[in-house]
Amino acid sequence: DALDPHVFVIFGATGDLAKRKLFPGLYRLSRSGILPGEFRIIGSGRHSPGTDEEFRDRLAESVRKFVDDFDDESWERFAARISFRTSSKDDGTELAEAVRAAQKELGDRTKKLLYLSVPPSTMEPMVGMLGETGLAENARLILEKPFGSDLSTSRSLNAALHEVFGEEQLFRIDHFLGKESVQNILALRFANGLFEPVWNRHHIAYVQIDVPEEIGIEGRAAFMESTGTFRDMISTHLFQLLGFLALEPPVRLSAESLRTEKRKLFQAVRPLDPSRVVFGQYSGYRQETDVADDSEVETFVALEVWVDNWRWKGVPFLLRTGKSMGQSRRTITLGFSEPPLRMFDHAEHFDGAPNELVFELTEDPKLTIDLRAKRPGPALELDHAQLELRFSEAFADAEPLEAYERLLLDVLRDDRTLFTSAEEVERLWELCDPVLREPPRAQPYARGSWGPEDAAGLPGPRGWRVPES
Ligand code: BG6
Repeated sequence: DALDPHVFVIFGATGDLAKRKLFPGLYRLSRSGILPGEFRIIGSGRHSPGTDEEFRDRLAESVRKFVDDFDDESWERFAARISFRTSSKDDGTELAEAVRAAQKELGDRTKKLLYLSVPPSTMEPMVGMLGETGLAENARLILEKPFGSDLSTSRSLNAALHEVFGEEQLFRIDHFLGKESVQNILALRFANGLFEPVWNRHHIAYVQIDVPEEIGIEGRAAFMESTGTFRDMISTHLFQLLGFLALEPPVRLSAESLRTEKRKLFQAVRPLDPSRVVFGQYSGYRQETDVADDSEVETFVALEVWVDNWRWKGVPFLLRTGKSMGQSRRTITLGFSEPPLRMFDHAEHFDGAPNELVFELTEDPKLTIDLRAKRPGPALELDHAQLELRFSEAFADAEPLEAYERLLLDVLRDDRTLFTSAEEVERLWELCDPVLREPPRAQPYARGSWGPEDAAGLPGPRGWRVPES
C-alpha cells in the first residue's frame, strides 16, 4: 500500500540528477500529499556534504531554483525528514544502521525504496554492497540509466542484480516514459479509431525522432566523457520513444502486455548499421573543464533505424540528438504517403510536401497535423494548413506531473508499466553493438548549429523536419 511509511534512500544524493529532479520531485509530491504520510529520506554518497543541516540548506537552494512555486513552510516540513549518511561500494554499514533506525522509528509496516543514481561503472559493486548490508531485503530499487555500457556489461549488471534482487523489486527508470506527452502517444494510438488504421508502412513514409538540446554539458564533463551521447540518449530515451511509436497494440494497458509488445518490437529492429550513423562533437567541447584535450567523445548522434516487421518494413526511422545545438526540441514527425494521384499539381502555393503528424513533447506539449487545404479565393489553389491540439489549453485545469514525479509515484504504487525490463535493456544493447564496436569518428559542428553536415543528408531530400516552434 502506497500509504505505508517509507524510508527513501538516494544514492548519488549530491549529484546533478538529485539536485535537479529527485529532491524537487519528492518535495512537490510531499507537498501535494501524494507521498506516504510518514517517511524519511536518507541521502547518500561517498563524500559527506557536511552536517545534515548543511545538506538540507544546500538542497533548499537547488529545490528553490527548480521548483517555481517553492514555499518555505512546506519545505521546512519536508526537509525535517531528510538526513545524509556516507556509503560506498565497499562500506555501507553506517547507512544501513541509519536505515534500520528509521524503519524502527516508523514502525513494522515501513517499506524501503532505494534510488541508485550513480555512474554506470559503480552500479554493479553498489548492488553487491546492498546485498551484503541487508539493505536490499524487501526493498524496491530504482535504477538510473544507462544500464551498463554495452551488451556484456549490461548482462553482468543484470546478473549481479538478480543475485540480490528479484526482478519484481527492480524499477529501471527512463524518465522520457514519464513525460505526459509520451504517454499521450499510447492514448492517441489506442484510444482513437482514427489513427491506428493508417499507422503502418502502407501509409507512413518516414518517422523522425528529433531531440536537439541547446544546453551543453553543464558541469557534467565526467559523465559525458565516460558515457557519450549515444549511450546517454539513443540506447535509452530515443529508442524508448521509438518503442511506443512502433509497438503493436497491446492486449491491455498493463505492464506485462506492454513489455510483451516492446520485446517483440525490439526483436524486429535491425541492429544498427554504423555506416548510417553520424557522430558529432561541438567545437569547444575539448576546452571544457575536465574534458580531455584529445577527447573523441560524441556530443551529437544522428542515425537511421529499420524495423523489419509486417507493419514497418521499409519505413526509415531517423533519430537525432545532441548538445549545444540550435534549439531545444523534442519532436516526433510521422510523414504520410502521397495521395496516389496528383490532381492539384498546378497550384502555386503547393510544394508537394506530404501530410505530417507532429508531436511536440515539450513542457507545453502539442500535437499538430499538417494538411493540405484549398486556399480561399477564386482559384483551386492548395496551401498548408494545420490542426493543432495544445494540451495546456485543452486541459487548462489539469495539473501535469513532472516525469520523475510521475515515475516515483508509479514505484510507490508498484506499477511498472512505464519501466523497462532486463531483457529489453539487453536487446537494446545488442542493437547498438555494431556502433559501439565500430564507432564513427565524431565530426566537428559549430555550437548553436544542427550538427555536422553529414547528418543533414541522412533523412534524404526532405531533410530533418523542424516545425516552427
Ligand atoms: C538525461 C540525459 O537523461 O536526459 C541528459 O542524461 C539530457 O543528457 C536529459 O539532457 C534530457 O531530459 P529532459 O527531460 O530535460 O528532456
